[in-house]
Amino acid sequence: MKLTILGGGGFRVPLVYGALLGDRGEGRVTDVVLHDLDAGRLSAVARVLAEQAADVPDAPTVTATTDLDEALRGADFIFSAIRVGGLEGRAADERVALDQGVLGQETVGAGGIAYGLRTVPVAVDIARRVARLAPDAWLINFTNPAGLVTEAMSRHLGDRVIGICDSPVGLGRRIARVLGANPREAWIDYVGLNHLGWVRGLHVAGRDELPRLLADPDLLGSFEEGKLFGTEWLQSLGAIPNEYLHYYYFNREAVRAYSEAEKTRGAFLRDQQEHFYEEMKRPDAAALTAWDRTRAEREATYMSENRETAGAGERDADDLSGGYEKVALALMRAIARDERTTLILNVRNQGTLSVLDADAVIEVPCLVDANGAHPVAVAPLPDHATGLVCAVKAVEREVLAAAESSSRATAVKAFALHPLVDSVNVARRLVDGYTGAHPGLAYLE
Ligand code: G6P
Ligand code: MN
Repeated sequence: MKLTILGGGGFRVPLVYGALLGDRGEGRVTDVVLHDLDAGRLSAVARVLAEQAADVPDAPTVTATTDLDEALRGADFIFSAIRVGGLEGRAADERVALDQGVLGQETVGAGGIAYGLRTVPVAVDIARRVARLAPDAWLINFTNPAGLVTEAMSRHLGDRVIGICDSPVGLGRRIARVLGANPREAWIDYVGLNHLGWVRGLHVAGRDELPRLLADPDLLGSFEEGKLFGTEWLQSLGAIPNEYLHYYYFNREAVRAYSEAEKTRGAFLRDQQEHFYEEMKRPDAAALTAWDRTRAEREATYMSENRETAGAGERDADDLSGGYEKVALALMRAIARDERTTLILNVRNQGTLSVLDADAVIEVPCLVDANGAHPVAVAPLPDHATGLVCAVKAVEREVLAAAESSSRATAVKAFALHPLVDSVNVARRLVDGYTGAHPGLAYLE
């Protein structure tokens, strides 16, 4: 079983490899191929993986290459975890937006549109190559903005591309925990777009336990989303939103907090990781120790840098370690071993939300088996949520159209139509700012 990781020089790759090392089951991954454009980053990460594998019998072999086509040939699974423009690009996505007084964030609002405009052409090129060189492979997309990028790739790969995110499962786990339920036994009624979804119910043994949580201010106030959104607002909504909805419901506060921060999240991570990759240039550096230290620093600052300023509480260690790699491994296992399971994934709508067309990628519980991920039927969203979902999907479609046509005017339209961009003039200035900051947007004319 061969797994190819695109963005193989990325900082989170050792988390994925660590999860693979723990998998002793039949049909497990035996060969890992790392691909990256940057040979230095590749060799840094390969050194960490070699140390991780040191005492593990039958550890998956690791090879590294900067040749994309070579990496794709013969792959059974492909993880796409690229970051076009790197963390420098993320920092610019955040800064240019904040300079215009709108939200500067990795995936939501103007920052997410800029990231999407940069990433879609690269993702489409990858999808085309996969369709040609590894047509039977399953592509698991980690790359943000995950819903949009998955939709771009699905136009070439159909349902062989599946997008993942750790936030819905993390949210479900936190809710189950405060209710005293076993997260594994709970059915989470969640739907929306990536980073734009709501938990409407949590069913255990045939009973919806969410009303019990919504009725109890003490319970509600005891977990991250309760602190982030406030009990009253959650009671008014009658649902628990994904934490990223904070950027919509408390936009003004989030923009202010981010504008006042010394560094954006992207700039912070850029500086921190630069240090790690620099250290790895020394041949005698202890790779795993250096990686672990950098990761611990990152996690310690996760909430304080990211959202604490906007009112969130602490995130516990379990949430931080139960992330992308676990969702990805669970998905890969279910497909490879035909072990039927349910996971919240980014897939084509196919009629699940009747207000969106069949090809719109949404985030929804799916039944997964050897045939792939099949969205389950869910109740419709309330009007306020439908409104946001449709508005943001329309923006995503403009981003896809701008990337396809290289049209600057269409890019302006994408920014201008976003609910968190409050003027067409701001949208124009955002396009000017972003094309100035990102060489990857030079294609817009
Ligand atoms: C969560 C989201 C990811 C996002 C990440 C940002 O895990 O689901 O989509 O990329 O947070 O974390 P970071 O530490 O990079 O700010
Ligand atoms: Mn995510």
